[in-house]
Amino acid sequence: MQHTGIAVVGSGSAVPPTTLTNAHLCQMVDTSEEWIGERTGIHQRHLNDGRSSLTELATKAALEAITMAKLQPMDIDLIILATSTADDMFGSASSIQFALGATRAVAFDLTAACSGFIFGLVTCAQFLQTGTYGTALLIGGDVLSRWVDWSDRRTCILFGDGAGAVVIQSHPVNHLLGFELHSDGSQNKSLSLKYGGTDHELLEGIAVSQGNYKPIDMNGQEVYRFAVRRVPEVLEKTLLRANLTVDDVDWLLLHQANQRIMVAVAERLHIPIHKVISNVARYGNTSAASIPIALDEFVREGKIKTGDVIATSGFGAGLTWGSAIFRWGT
Ligand code: UT7
Repeated sequence: MQHTGIAVVGSGSAVPPTTLTNAHLCQMVDTSEEWIGERTGIHQRHLNDGRSSLTELATKAALEAITMAKLQPMDIDLIILATSTADDMFGSASSIQFALGATRAVAFDLTAACSGFIFGLVTCAQFLQTGTYGTALLIGGDVLSRWVDWSDRRTCILFGDGAGAVVIQSHPVNHLLGFELHSDGSQNKSLSLKYGGTDHELLEGIAVSQGNYKPIDMNGQEVYRFAVRRVPEVLEKTLLRANLTVDDVDWLLLHQANQRIMVAVAERLHIPIHKVISNVARYGNTSAASIPIALDEFVREGKIKTGDVIATSGFGAGLTWGSAIFRWGT
């Protein structure tokens, strides 16, 4: 089997136009702008209304990434949609493939909650590095607003909707410098979006369960503790695997969940704050979309330059966490 490297060659992002500010939230639940700002760093989030879909957001982000990569949809061999909130329970990647006209591509969904983009990046890399496919499109997208309990002040202040995408290609030099992925199902109850059905008897003695999903349930303190412990640890391991030190890192790009988590992780790793990529203030926690949206913003603003080393880490429900360190561009 042929083994090559990979390069991340394009990015894109899309968020719905409607914004919900902290002031709006004060009209909905017992909270204050100061509390939300100080505890999370979030000031507003974008919300998808019923007229739009995850597929539309994801397709928009994907087209931007394909354009930046100077490719056509027909050049794509593999599409992975990292999401926990597909429009279709059977998966939305195929609808994106159709909307893009990427008819050559095989497309499927991958679910790893807020770690989805990192898990997806590593999965794409495996297909590319074995030589199975040449060009992959990875989209991280979520519309968690569908599953938030908007009367629960502990969770409704955090989440926003959006999609981000990258194009990844096989490359003679491997720009994926290292990665680590982890899961711990024993802590699943700390953060969940569970199916909740009621029994429906079809015939005597034969019943099925039918229903819907319950809203997001989270123990914020536990998830916070998990993140500030596991994220520095996984990044340190990945740096070691990649034969790098923190001084080699140009950018620290964490899942955008809470500004305090980003600062705590940077402090623990002794990474200066000016290297921390953050846009959580304007988007909130967009789950699988948060890393690629922030990446795209910094690339388009010219801050991230070709060859820059980006240390990324995602963490969240599962519980899952992981890290990938890569060089931007070719
Ligand atoms: O993608 C991964 C997903 N999740 C995360 O990364 C979340 C990680 N956790 C966090 O970001 C933080 O734990 C939160 C922002 C969710 C909460 O911040 P905290 O500093 O851990 O607050 P807390 O849960 O310890 O609550 C402190 C107090 C409590 O009141 P008492 O019991 O001390 O009287 C809460 O009831 O703040 C209260 N509280 C609020 N007050 C005003 C909780 N939510 C709110 C609110 N507004 N929205």
